[in-house]
Amino acid sequence: MFQSKIAGIGYYVPKNIYTNNDLKRFMDTSDEWIQERTGIKERRYADRIGESTTTMAVEASKLAIERAAVTPQDIDFIIFATLSPDYYFPGCAVLLQREMGMGEIGALDIRNQCSGFVYALSIADQFVKTGMYKNILVVGSEKQSFALDFSTRGRAVSVIFGDGAGAVVVQPTTEPNKGILSTHLHSDGADAEKLAMYYPGASSGIWLDEQPEWPDKELGGMFMTSKMLEDGTAFPVMDGQAVFKKAVAKFPEVIVEALTKNNLTPSDIDLLIPHQANLRISQFVQKTLGLSDDKVFNNIQKYGNTTAASVPIALCEAWEQGRIKDGDIVCLAAFGAGFTWGSALIRW
Ligand code: ACO
Repeated sequence: MFQSKIAGIGYYVPKNIYTNNDLKRFMDTSDEWIQERTGIKERRYADRIGESTTTMAVEASKLAIERAAVTPQDIDFIIFATLSPDYYFPGCAVLLQREMGMGEIGALDIRNQCSGFVYALSIADQFVKTGMYKNILVVGSEKQSFALDFSTRGRAVSVIFGDGAGAVVVQPTTEPNKGILSTHLHSDGADAEKLAMYYPGASSGIWLDEQPEWPDKELGGMFMTSKMLEDGTAFPVMDGQAVFKKAVAKFPEVIVEALTKNNLTPSDIDLLIPHQANLRISQFVQKTLGLSDDKVFNNIQKYGNTTAASVPIALCEAWEQGRIKDGDIVCLAAFGAGFTWGSALIRW
């Protein structure tokens, strides 16, 4: 049985910065409201044309692969986490494989939203532990700007999200008690509709008052009606308070689960990297676990919530800033739509 480690790490964010004040051009909002509720000051949006979830992933992956001292041809499996794929199908993993000129390797997309990267890392860890693969590229990338409602109606959701990508290369390690110590994954679908984007989906339209004629001879089975644009059901929906309550309960729970499994306590954490959902959620988790400011890394202020990309972007920035040293206990934790949540405990 092998142990796995993160051998290389990279991130990419688009150049286009949108401050809170910039959003006032589209919707009735304010810098004060957004900062007070979420901690976000600005976020990045990809170019409308020419920049996609896959192209951002390519940039992050190049860096991760270079830092792992391997080549794209050495990668033997890809796991790609995103909720904003370039196409409805196929997934982004095969597009990344093509763009990077990799071999005919396995390529897997996973759809676990904000906890997507932690889920992907856990899958990579299992494959490395069994000896099946030796250089797994794990990516979280999102171009969320394409699906946001930039009118005042959608402001509670839109102001939170941003675009970007992060990637890591997972390899086996022979160093004892180093690398990924354990991963922990959970879900509860009871509140699946509290944070969701219904369209496009096979149940599109079920929330409409009237059952439309189906199949529609012009639009086919999938359709977007003017009502969906008017009432906002074409865009992501979120019950913010329900998300907040569940997140602040589940984040600490899954972090403590990881620590307990490894006979550690919160005071053993050198750096906690929570999914950058909302600064208030991170601060609540920090307080619950009794961690000092230097033990928690946040960068939501600059990038907003980049869902599956947020953990690898934060991990990479923390590493680049020298916040992670050899032997440190690093805890990654995420919570998101589904609801799904998870953690990964790493000895760096
Ligand atoms: N700018 C200005 N006003 C706004 C905005 C905005 N962007 N959005 C909403 N408002 C208004 C509302 O219309 C409402 O006005 P009203 O009182 O006149 O009706 C008022 O602000 C309060 O709205 P609430 O929705 O009750 O605001 P709340 O205090 O709950 O804050 C928020 C909303 C920030 C979403 C909060 O619920 C929250 O932090 N939830 C957690 C959700 C989260 O973090 N999601 C991240 C994505 S999911 C994930 O990654 C896990």
